[in-house]
Amino acid sequence: MSSDTAVPPTAVQVVDSMERMSGGTYPGHRRSGARGVCFTGTFTPTGDAEGLTTAAHLQRRTVPVTVRFSNSEGDPQARDGVPVARGMATRFALPDDGHTDLIALSVPVFVASTPEEFFTLTKALRPDAATGHPDPARVQAFVAAHPHLAGPIMQQPPVPVSYGTAAYWAIHAFIWVDAAGNRQPVRYRWEPEAGRVDLTAEEAATQADHYLTAEIHERVKGGPVAFTLQVQLGEEDDPTHDPTVAWPDGRKEITAGRLELTGPVHDQEQWAEQGFNPTGVTAGIELSDDPVLAFRAGAYPESFRRRNENR
Ligand code: HEM
Repeated sequence: MSSDTAVPPTAVQVVDSMERMSGGTYPGHRRSGARGVCFTGTFTPTGDAEGLTTAAHLQRRTVPVTVRFSNSEGDPQARDGVPVARGMATRFALPDDGHTDLIALSVPVFVASTPEEFFTLTKALRPDAATGHPDPARVQAFVAAHPHLAGPIMQQPPVPVSYGTAAYWAIHAFIWVDAAGNRQPVRYRWEPEAGRVDLTAEEAATQADHYLTAEIHERVKGGPVAFTLQVQLGEEDDPTHDPTVAWPDGRKEITAGRLELTGPVHDQEQWAEQGFNPTGVTAGIELSDDPVLAFRAGAYPESFRRRNENR
């Protein structure tokens, strides 16, 4: 039987619970994706998306981007050499004015279908006072009560050689809208041009705690680090509301563009303070009916407020 709250949780409750799951608060840091590093670059659309969406950054003009790679943990000192998701948050500067964001993780599906499930999961993952780790019995009880989440929760994110050798999924469905108002559900994935290259468990165990940050600086110095933006086109009955369910592999996919990192931002501190916006779409793109996506609209500003208040 499910133990989720009957009343939907608030952003305040969920961010409180995320803090407890992370073993406390880390002043000035994001409540998830706490340690990160930012790079500038460019995004050049292929033009293949232009008949499907009017979004300005997906037409023909190259636009500047800022990318933040992160370790998904809330503790900024968390080790990189363990199988946790990594983040890739991208801000596209729009050709005329403003910006739009695309936030992705190195796993194809999320661990909860609803905010209620996510809230309950964060409680099950709180560290036990005696061991400092989540209590396996509590996690098992959560999975037993939510059998449809067993696969997503048990997925082992790879430990990549580099932030530049991981694939990143934006997970939720979004809706592209063309000039005539036609609507096309889509899902995004960043695919690394260097290929997906992971460490073995033995190699991962011997890496420096924060090796991914040092590695990506070196890699970008050595030459272009690039990703292509792959877009899966959903069909009639593909669910758009559930971030735990991937669409079938055989769906048509287009390459919407190529992102190239050119160097670290010169003001990491200032970028660390910024907040990316998971629902910050632009004309030609709409949010889907995914309740987790809608919930993030309140949770991110709550974390932003806390981290910039208690620096
Ligand atoms: C109920 C679901 C979720 C909640 C409550 C949640 C909450 C949060 C919060 C509070 C932050 C810190 C925001 C800040 O301080 O700026 C964050 C960061 C982040 N989240 Fe989520 N999240 C959820 C789902 C997801 C999903 C589905 C993805 C992937 C598509 C994702 C990817 C990320 C990434 C990459 C970051 C770091 C962003 C950055 O570099 O600024 N999250 N999340």
